[in-house]
Amino acid sequence: MTGKTAYLNGRYLPLAEAKISPLDRGFLFGDGAYEVVPVYSRRPFRLDEHLRRLQTTLDGIRLPNPHNAEEWKAIVLHVIAEADFADQSVYIEVTRGADSKRDQAFPIGVAPTIFVFTSPLITPTLEQRESGIAVISAVDIRWGRCDLKTVALLANVLMRQLAVDAGCAETIMLRDGYLTEGAASNIFVVQDGVILAPPKDYRMLSGITYDVVLELAAQHGMPHQVRPIAEAELRSADELWMTSSTKEVLAITTLDGQPVGKGTGAGKPGPILRRMYDWYCAFHDEVSRRADA
Ligand code: PDD
Repeated sequence: MTGKTAYLNGRYLPLAEAKISPLDRGFLFGDGAYEVVPVYSRRPFRLDEHLRRLQTTLDGIRLPNPHNAEEWKAIVLHVIAEADFADQSVYIEVTRGADSKRDQAFPIGVAPTIFVFTSPLITPTLEQRESGIAVISAVDIRWGRCDLKTVALLANVLMRQLAVDAGCAETIMLRDGYLTEGAASNIFVVQDGVILAPPKDYRMLSGITYDVVLELAAQHGMPHQVRPIAEAELRSADELWMTSSTKEVLAITTLDGQPVGKGTGAGKPGPILRRMYDWYCAFHDEVSRRADA
């Protein structure tokens, strides 16, 4: 453990020493791809899936992947080993590099910028787990490739800030009257004991946690459907959940100031969420105990 918790273009170094050019296309144009990988007990969770999604994003923005999966794993495991904390969040970014001029068109003969760093994994607080979180809704103003995990996140930044300004934890977005996702999360609806998830297409990011939740639902025989979710269904849900690599599976208990759910359970984390969260924790604990995880 030497505290070299960052990697930049072939070198391991302390994060404070990692420097890039102001002409980097990630900085100028948001021209890059990224991933956030949760790490439990120094074992990355679903790393193969994160690396596959990175490949999908790189293919989608026509940026050759600078590393194969084995090389990526070696880099990720190296920064994990350098940290003095066991539960981590590893950030990976690849941009189209820094040219000597500013031009939107792809540069020729320019090396990509490759940046990885690890920080402590910040999961929801006990209070958030017990009470759930409040969210607001907004019209989804993003572009037509929300399935790509690019660093061009300005719309997500504006959406997240709307939530912060309203004293809420997240903004849920709707496009043409249908649920897409959160500013930095996927959203699930529970209606009459059935878990509903919006379909994966250009309107939302294919979440790694989203996949785990649907796999766990299938494994435990919990009814679930993947289909478009209309605004009215969102607003009359029995339960709402938010999922992401760092937030895991979290109850949304207030939407636009209204309690989520009905009867005595309104405004409280629901029974199906509690079961899913337990399954999720058991699953990542099991994975992080396995030597080949
Ligand atoms: N965000 N949708 C969006 C727009 C996201 O930014 C994220 C994750 C997700 C959930 O994906 P996953 O389950 O693979 O984490 C969905 C990360 C954590 C971030 O940008 O910090």
